[in-house]
Amino acid sequence: MIKENINPERLPEHIAIIMDGNGRWAKEKGKYRIFGHENGVKAVREVSEGCAELGVKYLTLYAFSTENWNRPKIEVNALMTLLVKTIKKETGTLMKNGIKLEAIGDKTTLPKDCRKELEEAIEVTKNNTKMTLILALSYSAKWDIVNATRDIVKRAIDGKISLDDVNEKLINNTLTTHKYPHPELMIRTSGEHRISNFLLWEIAYSELYFTNVLWPDFRKEHLREAIIDYQKRERRFGKTSEQLA
Ligand code: IPE
Ligand code: IPE
Ligand code: MG
Repeated sequence: MIKENINPERLPEHIAIIMDGNGRWAKEKGKYRIFGHENGVKAVREVSEGCAELGVKYLTLYAFSTENWNRPKIEVNALMTLLVKTIKKETGTLMKNGIKLEAIGDKTTLPKDCRKELEEAIEVTKNNTKMTLILALSYSAKWDIVNATRDIVKRAIDGKISLDDVNEKLINNTLTTHKYPHPELMIRTSGEHRISNFLLWEIAYSELYFTNVLWPDFRKEHLREAIIDYQKRERRFGKTSEQLA
């Protein structure tokens, strides 16, 4: 799929990706799961560059879920080490491509060095304007919704808001994702057809795209295929086709 097949007028402003299949990719090759994670880094670079080149403004990557803490300790540790290494190594690529790094998720649960590297990269890239890359780390949508609910209840108890103030906009603005438009397109690799506690509120009207490609094999051409598929769809938002015409 070539870039020219993409209609720049109908480009999603925000793409969210569930990067899945690293373990199976490694297993196919008779290697340890972490070998798959290591090889997933190239795909991250490809989609980040690919999105920036096309003019996508926001890219959210699901890198580690709240539930992923339940994996064997050895895998969790290896993933955290890889994360620190990758963030350090890729800051140059982010600068070169004008990409600003941000993160969503419970940063307090991350190992200290991981958090430090993350915060440094966020600081260094903060003035980049071409695209924002949002890493979902120790993130789950339910975690975010629970925190937002607590925040709203606290404000109500403190008399800062009343029952009538609770509406869609307030809830939206209390989630950690409030700075970003909702993703128009959500991609999941590896043939699994589920959301796994990723952006639940934010994908209420997203177009979902599933591919059998395992994450370490995901390249710019796969990204383009997903965008072209998205561009063929009619987004009705509850209306009829005739109303849209
Ligand atoms: C996705 O690949 C990466 C993370 C969840 C961190 P997996 O590790 O889930 O790979 P599979 O699904 O077992 O193949
Ligand atoms: C979802 O993948 C989380 C990330 C991609 C970071 P998983 O591989 O953990 O999802 P499930 O548990 O199989 O649904
Ligand atoms: Mg998986």
